[in-house]
Amino acid sequence: MKHFITLADLPDFNHTLDLAMDLKKNPTQSEGLGKGKTLGLLFFNPSLRTRLSTQKAAQNLGLPTMVMNFSQESWALEFEDGTKMSGLRSEHVREAAAVVSQYCDMVAIRAFASLSDKEKDEAEIVLRSFAKYASVPIINMESATAHPLQALADAITLKEFQPAHKPKVVLSWAPHPKALPHAVGNSFTHMMRKMDADFVIAHPEGYALNPEITEGIPCTTNQKEALEGADFVYTKNWCSYQHYGQILRTDDKWMITPEKMKLTNNGKFMHCLPIRRNIVAADGVLDSPNSLVIQQSQNRIYSAQAVLKQLLENG
Ligand code: CP
Repeated sequence: MKHFITLADLPDFNHTLDLAMDLKKNPTQSEGLGKGKTLGLLFFNPSLRTRLSTQKAAQNLGLPTMVMNFSQESWALEFEDGTKMSGLRSEHVREAAAVVSQYCDMVAIRAFASLSDKEKDEAEIVLRSFAKYASVPIINMESATAHPLQALADAITLKEFQPAHKPKVVLSWAPHPKALPHAVGNSFTHMMRKMDADFVIAHPEGYALNPEITEGIPCTTNQKEALEGADFVYTKNWCSYQHYGQILRTDDKWMITPEKMKLTNNGKFMHCLPIRRNIVAADGVLDSPNSLVIQQSQNRIYSAQAVLKQLLENG
């Protein structure tokens, strides 16, 4: 694995999942592995879980970290090649990536979608530019179109709570007052292709995810029908993909409520967090013993640790 930008970069998804679950049993089993190395964490957007869980994962491996809130603390970066840099952008990613590579042995980056330019977002300009101009591995801590560390943590959680039968897993769109990216929904869908489960995506009209990502997966606009008999309900907002970046509805008809959870097979509730209470899901859902949101955030440590460990072992 040269870089970890999507789940497809993992040499073996099931091996990584097993490794993460083994690391959870004994988190410091490889605490000498990071000695003498440094992990850089560059944030172009805010974070709670990703920042702290990745630092914790690195700490468990004896790997020191350097963190920078790039958008607030560093020079504004230019990503276009051949441009005359007469505007506000003071440094080109060519130099920035090369410089950071001298201080860090791996660089993890968070850079969300703009939601204003689909083509640029899908080109993953920030991550792909760092991957091109850095001389060290690049790790995705949520990019414009993917959040693979979250999806790997979600896979751990699904495994930990899997029923005796093949589970039904529903990814249900939920309302939100802000336009949010597709990264979590995309990576969750990518990950579910690797799990032994019946997987359904439920979303209102106009909110279909990228059809290239959902190809062959059952999708419905009937949320209640989708929830019937579900063992896991993973809820997440995303803005319209077709009408890129737009919010098409603001009503609360798709909020997950205790009444809707009664349609499920005593289903577990999942969300990547942060979550807006009584918008995305009602208090009664989040405060129920069937909510796995805190366990999901704990598993962020071991998903990151499994990826870092493999990159360190690659040398
Ligand atoms: N789930 C997740 O990525 O959380 P943060 O945005 O707080 O890192």
